[in-house]
Amino acid sequence: MKKITVIGTGYVGLVSGAGISDFGHYVNCADKIESKIKLLQQGEIPIYEPGLDDLVKRNVSTGRLSFTTNVDEAIQTADVIFIAVGTPQGENGEANISAVESVARAIGKNLNNYKVICTKSTVPIGTGDRVCELIRETMPKGGVFDYVSNPEFLREGSAVKDFLWPDRVVIGATSERAFDIMRDVYRPLYVNEKPILHTNVATAEMIKYAANAFLALKISYINEVANLCEKVGADIHQVAKAMGQDGRISPKFLHPGPGYGGSCFPKDTEAIAALSRKKGAPMHTIDAAIITNNEQKIKMTEKLKKLVDDDLTGKTIGVLGLAFKPNTDDVRESSSIDMIQSILDGGGQVHAFDPIANESMKKYFPNLKYFTSWKEACQNTDAVAIMTEWNEFRGLSLDTLKTIMKSPIILDTRNILSIEKLIEYGFRFDNVGRLKIQ
Ligand code: UDX
Repeated sequence: MKKITVIGTGYVGLVSGAGISDFGHYVNCADKIESKIKLLQQGEIPIYEPGLDDLVKRNVSTGRLSFTTNVDEAIQTADVIFIAVGTPQGENGEANISAVESVARAIGKNLNNYKVICTKSTVPIGTGDRVCELIRETMPKGGVFDYVSNPEFLREGSAVKDFLWPDRVVIGATSERAFDIMRDVYRPLYVNEKPILHTNVATAEMIKYAANAFLALKISYINEVANLCEKVGADIHQVAKAMGQDGRISPKFLHPGPGYGGSCFPKDTEAIAALSRKKGAPMHTIDAAIITNNEQKIKMTEKLKKLVDDDLTGKTIGVLGLAFKPNTDDVRESSSIDMIQSILDGGGQVHAFDPIANESMKKYFPNLKYFTSWKEACQNTDAVAIMTEWNEFRGLSLDTLKTIMKSPIILDTRNILSIEKLIEYGFRFDNVGRLKIQ
């Protein structure tokens, strides 16, 4: 079994570290943020991710998973080092890789024997060369290493499942020795005949961006089709269903909504678009997907205004769902941020509720009224906007909702409520690409 160090205990590093230890390897997760490591050492998980708690506990108890702030030592003792630090969006849309660069320098300084250095963070194509250059500049004379790119395809909310049962594992490596070591790391998956793709480094880096940008493109496309459905009296659900039945299209990522959010799609689309311009091969399709997504978020705020007769002044709006998608407490780039801001700008008041993301949203809007159930949040509201498709909102009682609201007005940006029931209970409502009563 290998000795693995994962540097960066964010969402990707933690899930990957715990997952790799579950494969039987010894994993040391290193981070310079002491408070984070302290929490992890006490058995607490700093992020909400279904199944991660159990995965971490199980592997800590076998002694295969540990946490440290001693990054230098963690590097020296490892056979394989995963770089899983953040790559936030920098100027011109390009990803900022300064954290990756500083880890590369630390690896160079502590390179005491042959190691495989593997980047998991989503990094611009060409970063591999930069990491190798920095390691070479800082390593002791005669130091040896191989570089590998191993992008992650983890969805928040199902990241543990995605890690343990991936569709594919991409390993970008020019050295056969490094590829064989990486294949050993993922051997349990290999035994289960999960496809392991061996590519060069640039191809592996490209696969990640191309896949994410394509999914974002698919969402923007279906959102535009939904908007057109509204104009011509078509129903987006039936359109999307029939489109998805064509195996070439597939039904996944064809759900219209308030625009994609999260830590990946907005950042990765900007990054690949910026890179494509820089390299002289502009991706107009991605530029369009970004524009459509930004407009979709604004469209939702306009829909809400229209439902309240274009006057938000003094109105109380219940916002149900703050996370950018269900099963996560992440609100980054969530369309609910635009919605809340527009209500406040219009002179309205927000009653916010999310099953787990209230705390995260307080960082953006510390002065909102936050509630601990949808019923409390919707009490005496002039309208309600559903922003995230949490299961508990799918099943909310329209009967109850109608009695507790001031007026029965609802914007369903995730198309989760039954149109028949909304009509039956006399709601004025809007959605994305379906029949509406305004
Ligand atoms: C994404 C990728 O799916 C994952 O492979 C990658 O490694 C990281 O980025 P994530 O951001 O966690 O994962 O969420 P995802 O489930 O892909 O959803 C992203 C956004 O698109 C959410 O805001 C979601 O609501 C929206 N979405 C998704 C739609 O609006 N419609 C869809 O059909 C699917």
